[in-house]
Amino acid sequence: MASSSKKRCVVPENMSVGFIGAGRMAQAMSRGFIESGMIRANNIVASDPDASMLGFIQKLGVNTTEDNKEVVAKSDLICIAVKPNNVSKVLEEVAPVVTTKNIFLSIAAGIKIGMIEKLLPEKTRVIRVMPNTPALVQSAASVFAMGSYAQNGDGDLVAELLSSIGICEEGKESLLDAVTGLSGSGPAYAFAAIESMADGGVKMGLPRDLAQKLAAQTMLGAAKMVLESGKHPGELKDGVCSPAGTTIAAMHKLEKAGFRGALIDAVEAATLRARELGS
Ligand SMILES: NC(=O)c1ccc[n+]([C@@H]2O[C@H](COP(=O)([O-])OP(=O)(O)OC[C@H]3O[C@@H](n4cnc5c(N)ncnc54)[C@H](OP(=O)(O)O)[C@@H]3O)[C@@H](O)[C@H]2O)c1
Repeated sequence: MASSSKKRCVVPENMSVGFIGAGRMAQAMSRGFIESGMIRANNIVASDPDASMLGFIQKLGVNTTEDNKEVVAKSDLICIAVKPNNVSKVLEEVAPVVTTKNIFLSIAAGIKIGMIEKLLPEKTRVIRVMPNTPALVQSAASVFAMGSYAQNGDGDLVAELLSSIGICEEGKESLLDAVTGLSGSGPAYAFAAIESMADGGVKMGLPRDLAQKLAAQTMLGAAKMVLESGKHPGELKDGVCSPAGTTIAAMHKLEKAGFRGALIDAVEAATLRARELGS
């Protein structure tokens, strides 16, 4: 697998990473870590009761086991990558083998650091992060919050690791449910937008594969312009809308259909659901 080694300052060459739960996020993150050159595949171990999930992750060169405790014993950093409703069961199971060398990184939506700390031995270093699936293509958007016993160096390490698969910011834990609603769930909104734009192209006579490629590249290009120019998206939108032109006609339709309101509602709904999962 291609390795495009990114700059490393604090992540040790031989750092071992474990994933408890080998589903979509574990696969996306481990692929990102391996392809960025940050973690070697043979320094990653993943556990899951589902043999097919282990089969998928093995294809990346990752070691696998059905034993969650083995993951903890073999890893410096353990990523809790099971669904939120399985987190407490997993933590209770592995707590007896946790040592002071371990750092726990939870990606479970809504699950609070305090709850994780309570289920693990006293003073365990915990960091909670909300990444997203574009980790798979090293374009994740992640925000992490430090636990009560996590040390500054742990935060630096997690920041460097997550930066190898996209952008990474540190924030207060109180922000993480909203991060879940925006960027954690956001790839689904973007996929739906790409699909719908492609449908529009097909309706107007474009071949499906061309329509999809154009829709996806347009989203990618627009996102890059926002990130790289630092300009307000409204200003960039105005730049595409010429007087009496095609784009302003389309924008009028979007406004009438409640496009912006629907996206704001979507982020709010996902945030509230994340809050529910954590209560
Ligand atoms: N998907 C996203 O876009 C996204 C984004 C950000 C954060 N997250 C968070 O990431 C976490 C994982 O999400 P995901 O989408 O990767 O879920 P997923 O694809 O369902 O993967 C979770 C895996 O954990 C396995 N599992 C269940 N109980 C287990 C146990 N006791 N020990 C070990 N493995 C166990 C599941 O197996 P079974 O299917 O057999 O139960 C499943 O294969 C969630 O907490 C979610 O909130 C997800």
